[in-house]
Amino acid sequence: LRLGVLASGSGSNFEAIARAIDCGQLNAEIRVLIYNNPQAKAADRAKKWGIPSVLLDHREFKRREELDRGIVATLKEYGAEWTIMAGWMRIVTPVLIDAFPDRILNIHPSLLPSFPGIRAIEQALNAGVKVAGCTVHRVSLEVDCGPILAQAVVPVLEDDTPETLHARIQIQEHEIFPRAIALAALQSQNP
Ligand code: GRF
Repeated sequence: LRLGVLASGSGSNFEAIARAIDCGQLNAEIRVLIYNNPQAKAADRAKKWGIPSVLLDHREFKRREELDRGIVATLKEYGAEWTIMAGWMRIVTPVLIDAFPDRILNIHPSLLPSFPGIRAIEQALNAGVKVAGCTVHRVSLEVDCGPILAQAVVPVLEDDTPETLHARIQIQEHEIFPRAIALAALQSQNP
């Protein structure tokens, strides 16, 4: 599997995927990391792993479609066949979705369909739920709504803050994301 990874922030999921590939758990290759924020730590992680990274700063594009056109061109240039949104904080348009039909995956820090959109962890804490978690799904036009591939559950503790709960969820994200990528590929071979 030739992957292109999109990340806006820390990139711990990017690194979890790189590690899963490195230890033979996931039969894939990350061809390129695309990041939209010059401060993204994900770029440092890519350097460490010897993976090419490309900055496409969203502020330099007038419309979402133009950013997505840049993303598609970069992914194709590097030979990526799957697009992995690992903490990608931009809303995607049909330009990207139509270029990789059914081959775009996203990770979201809630048990979808609960708490889509931004601040999912705060939403969960405010709702007073006793379990939280994460979801890997295929990307469709509606944000955080595509078919679900994998989920994991964590407890919400009495004294949790968004930070402590997020840290517990991220441990699970790093487990399920590589597995969900393999599953998605398998499903595509045997539709
Ligand atoms: C993750 O919690 C993911 O669910 C959300 O953004 C966060 C990205 O974390 N979409 P990282 O950059 O992979 O560390």
